Amino acid sequence: MTHSLAVAVLAAGKGTRMRSRLPKVLHPLGGRTLVENVLASLEQVQPDRQIAIIGYLADEVRAALAHVSGLEFVEQTEQLGTGHAVQQVIPALEGFEGNLLVLNGDVPLLRPETIAKMVKTHVENNNAATILTAQFEDPTGYGRVFCDDSYIVSEIIEHRDCTSEQRHNKRINSGIYCFNWQQLMTVLPHLKSDNDQNEYYLTDVVKDLSPVMALDVDDIEEISGINNRKQLSDAATILQRRIKDELMLSGITMINPDSITIDATVTVEPDVVIEPETHLRGHTTIAAGCHLGPGTLIENSTIGANTTVRYSVISDSTVEGAGRIGPYAHLRGQAIIGEDCRIGNFVEVKQSTIGNKTNAAHLAYLGNATLGDQVNIGAGTITANYDGFEKHSTVIKDNTKTGSNSVLVAPVTLGKNVTVGAGAVVTKDVDDNCLIVTRGERRVIKNWRPRFVNNKTAKK
Ligand code: UD1
Ligand code: CA
Repeated sequence: MTHSLAVAVLAAGKGTRMRSRLPKVLHPLGGRTLVENVLASLEQVQPDRQIAIIGYLADEVRAALAHVSGLEFVEQTEQLGTGHAVQQVIPALEGFEGNLLVLNGDVPLLRPETIAKMVKTHVENNNAATILTAQFEDPTGYGRVFCDDSYIVSEIIEHRDCTSEQRHNKRINSGIYCFNWQQLMTVLPHLKSDNDQNEYYLTDVVKDLSPVMALDVDDIEEISGINNRKQLSDAATILQRRIKDELMLSGITMINPDSITIDATVTVEPDVVIEPETHLRGHTTIAAGCHLGPGTLIENSTIGANTTVRYSVISDSTVEGAGRIGPYAHLRGQAIIGEDCRIGNFVEVKQSTIGNKTNAAHLAYLGNATLGDQVNIGAGTITANYDGFEKHSTVIKDNTKTGSNSVLVAPVTLGKNVTVGAGAVVTKDVDDNCLIVTRGERRVIKNWRPRFVNNKTAKK
């Protein structure tokens, strides 16, 4: 027998305690939004349907999740409680047979293994509902789960609706559930809002379903919810520790890991060394043998094997391998650096493609440029790529060398084996094998002093 699985992610709330215009579920954590982290926890269960329940700034949430394939959206226009939220998926799930996994959009640290274990427990025991629970030292604010020694749940009571006696119960409801959809449908439409908050509580379905089982998580960090920015920062610390521990165990050396941050979306191959104050963000891939940092930011970039990057910033770019980048280099806007290149101090490369074994070792700007192999860019070479209205391209072919302080006024092409004299201003194309010098002829005037000095008698 197959067990179809649908998922409902509760993401309609504003998150008042975040004190933000941004919907709570769109706050970033480890390079993804909170709700994307929640969706990532579904990795091992492969649901047949995924439905996000959206409400507050629904269009923004929808746009932020548009890239998630197969994700459906239903709107909860008024937020009348978690039970009311799940009621909104009833039309979408008409005729559905199987289980419904309910996740809160603000519980971002769930491990895929935990969700898989919960679904497995639910299916194996043929439960009407399975609830992820934990025993908290301080359960204040959470709904309390009442169960017997075999974890069979009788009811869940919200903190504010508990008697002082009931508040001694430390077993809390994480807000993560797996329901048998057919059985849930016998009670979900009939919820009442006769509680302290006059809301439709999803937790009220529990007392009318059987059997309902509690499953304690091994690691309580996994079910911490985010209600304010302090909890967001605490979650970021937990996530960073997880990501870095995993990387170190996979063969990456980190020096002072507390000063390093790495997004969940980053891939690092073994035998990479990461030095202090280095930050890897977004869709970044680091190949084996790289040495990154100290003091480096790399985002949405691909760094090939055995590259060294020190005190530099690399965004949306590629270094193909064996590169030596920095100190103080800036690669951005789809810069593509070939194999075995050196991009040194105070060199900025923007939207340019650079061939193999090409060097720009000091003080240069290369924008909208295409460089061949074994080019040498002298200190102070600037591609003047912007005329005030549009950007123009510069092409520099193999083995060409630009002199110090040369300005290449785009659009312009330098052929192969060109030598550009120091201080040249190159405004027209230069053919292969040429030397181009644009200096004025040297004049030396002996014993020269400014005329006004000659006309004045020195006052002393
Ligand atoms: C809920 C549970 C509580 C549990 C806690 C765990 C209920 C009644 N209580 O309480 O037992 O211990 O989670 O964190 O379910 N949401 C909507 N629409 C609504 C209301 C909420 O989409 O109308 C979403 C929120 O955006 C949020 C999630 O549901 O992502 C949880 O809602 P919240 O109000 O934070 O529930 P809690 O009071 O924390
Ligand atoms: Ca909450």
